[in-house]
Formats: sequence, structure tokens, C-alpha cells
Amino acid sequence: MIIEPRMRGFICLTAHPVGCEQSVKNQIEYVKSKGAIDGAKKVLVIGASTGFGLASRISSAFGSDAATIGVFFEKPPMAGKTASPGWYNSAAFEKEAHKAGLYAKSINGDAFSNEVKRETLDLIKADLGQVDLVIYSLASPVRTNPNTGVTHRSVLKPIGATFSNKTVDFHTGKVSEVSIEPCAGDDIENTIAVMGGEDWAMWIDALKAENLLAPGANTVAYSYIGPSVTEAVYRKGTIGRAKDHLEATAFEISDSLADINGKAYVSVNKALVTQASSAIPVIPLYISLLYKIMKAEGIHEGCIEQIQRLYQQRLFTGGEVPVDEKGRIRIDDWEMREDVQAQVAQLWEQATTENLAEIGDLEGYRKDFYNLFGFDLAGVDYKAEADEMVQVESIA
Ligand code: NAI
Ligand code: NA
Repeated sequence: MIIEPRMRGFICLTAHPVGCEQSVKNQIEYVKSKGAIDGAKKVLVIGASTGFGLASRISSAFGSDAATIGVFFEKPPMAGKTASPGWYNSAAFEKEAHKAGLYAKSINGDAFSNEVKRETLDLIKADLGQVDLVIYSLASPVRTNPNTGVTHRSVLKPIGATFSNKTVDFHTGKVSEVSIEPCAGDDIENTIAVMGGEDWAMWIDALKAENLLAPGANTVAYSYIGPSVTEAVYRKGTIGRAKDHLEATAFEISDSLADINGKAYVSVNKALVTQASSAIPVIPLYISLLYKIMKAEGIHEGCIEQIQRLYQQRLFTGGEVPVDEKGRIRIDDWEMREDVQAQVAQLWEQATTENLAEIGDLEGYRKDFYNLFGFDLAGVDYKAEADEMVQVESIA
């Protein structure tokens, strides 16, 4: 069928298999162009189908010739209805990995559940024996705790006071004032339950209990800090509490891995357009200004550039992994550069509907957003019929 983007609010209901494949191929080419990385060889990526997780899987496979197992939660296609983008990304990734002679298998299901953990442990046991790197890159609005059966929903709200600031509807370019009411009730606990470190620790405990972590194995989860304009809704809001919890969990996991000489890291990454970040008010305006400045400075990065740099210049240098005073790896260093932030803050004051297209990178934002769903990629013929029924090779 001919597949076009169909928007509803901040999400796109369709995805283009050929565009997603092109996007994956572009990322593979980028990693290859940067040379070999002396990294992990058997890698489990939890949240492997889009964003930073997909970039991690690609960096391991095509930077270090690693065998990868990817866990994700995506919608397969049905006749006449496209799959979710992460499904097509994973299909393309496996196809390319298999072509390159690399082991790659995937598990599609709820990573928070005992069943998917069981299935993953069994697959590692049968095929790889052990893994030496576990990337934890889930972004989800909801989690059912398998021990209690309670379903938690995360919220993106400030704590204590209403937050008002500018935001942009990136479809129309309209800049407006938005007010977000503070969280209430169990919002903080629920957000921590979904996006904090509890499930990460459960995964590592389960792997360790069955001796599936190789000596010296590392695990990495992703976090965000960001500027003062987004602080109330992000780092000092409910999601920030979850990130605090995630970061604290890294120390607990490291303690539990001491006997196998393993370590848990949190890497603080740059703000990027993903399905998750588009839904947070204020963030799209910040990102469109940030992109403009970082592109002008020649330091703009997407997920793949970020993770390739994380691997080559932080995790796998052969030396000590550089961390900040809180033990975190920082690949948001260029975003947080003082001169970059000073310029963004200045533009923030000026930004209006009339000038945003000029002072901000609204076009770049939109393009990245469309790219997430496989649209607007160079070299893809969107007028041609595309087969929506593309399958992930390892998933029956
Ligand atoms: P994403 O939405 O692109 O990827 C999320 C992944 O999790 C997908 O592979 C999805 O299939 C999987 N997933 C979601 N729920 C699942 C479930 N129940 N079971 C199995 N898989 C599930 O998100 P993104 O942006 O790559 O986020 C990954 C991490 O990076 C998050 O912790 C996020 O907070 C962090 N981060 C994101 C930044 C951004 O600007 N986008 C900046 C810094 C950190
Ligand atoms: Na991810």
C-alpha cells in the first residue's frame, strides 16, 4: 500500500517500513564510519527498538561485532495497517545484522513482566551462555509490577506549584503560554515505579541469579538533566524523581555485581526528539532552540552519534570510565556547555510564533519527528507501494 503519515495530536498513527529501514541503515553506516569499538561482544538491550536503545543495539553490533538480543514492546503489522516504527526498525536491524553474519534475536513483549524476563533468560542460556553488557533503555507511561500486580502510571508534572512557561505546537509553529498543575496523590510514587530503577534492578538480579552475567559485565541506563527552563517540569518534577531513583539504583546494582567485578552506570544523554519527549510541554520549544545553536556550533548529535560517542569515548576506551561528581557518565556535555545554554536562554526570551521559524530549528524538529516514523528520509520513494507486512526475522 501507499503509506502516508497520519497524525493525531503528538503521535503519528502510521509508520513507513522502507523509511524505517533507511533510517536504520543510515545509523549502521554512521557507526561503521567511526571505526571499530573494542566493546562488549554479547549484549542484551532492553528497549531496543527505537531511540537510544536502538542506537545502542546498532553501536554494539556494527561497532563491536556483538551478538545482540533486543527486547521491546511493539505492534506487528496487520493487513492494511502498519506496524509501529520500532517493529520496522527491528526488522531492518535483524536483516542487516544477519547479512553481516551477526547473531541477533528479538523478544517482543512487556519487559516489566516475569514472562518476558523468563523468556529472555532462557534465550541467553540457550544461545549466548552469558552477556557482558546490559543496556536498559525503556521509556513507558505505564508498568505493572509483577510482584504486586499493581499497575502504575507515570505523570509529567511539576511538584509543589503550578508551572507556567512558553511552549510550541511544532506542527503549527504556534508559541503559547502553558500552565501545568502540580502533581497530586501518589503521582510521584507511581512515576518512580514506572521510570525509576526498580525494574532495572529486577532484570540484573534475575540475570545474576542464573549466572548469565559474564565476569566484568556492565549495565547502563539512560537519564536526563537539562536546563533551568525545563527544570520544574523535568528534573525537579515527577520524572526527575524517577531519574533520581534510577541513578541511586546504579550504586545498588554495582554493589550487587562487585563479586563478578561488574558495574552499573547511568549515562546522562542529550535532549532529542523521540516519541516520549514530543509529548512533554515546553521541551519541544527548548529542543528547537537547542538544535539551532548546536547545529550552528557544529556539535549537533542524534541518538546514534550520542551512543557511538558513549561507547568509543566513555565506556570502551580501555581506561577508567569518566564520571561526574555523582558517578554519572555525561554525554550531555555539549548540550550543557555554558556558551550553548547562554545562547538558548537568550533565544528563549525572544521566541514568538512570528520569529521561531527563524531563530529556532522548527524544521529540524519536524524532520526528526517524521523520521521517527520512517517519513521524510532522503532516498525513499514515498509514492511507491510498500509492503506493510514486514516481519522481524527471529520472531515467529
Ligand atoms: P523511546 O520511546 O524511543 O524507546 C523506548 C523503548 O522502550 C522502545 O524500544 C520500546 O519498545 C520500549 N518499551 C517501552 N515499554 C516497554 C515495555 N513495557 N516492555 C518492553 N519494551 C518497552 O525512548 P528514548 O527516548 O530512547 O528513551 C530511552 C531512555 O532514554 C529513557 O530512560 C529516557 O528517559 C532516556 N533519555 C531520553 C532523552 C530524550 O531526549 N529522548 C534524553 C536523555 C535520556
Ligand atoms: Na530506547
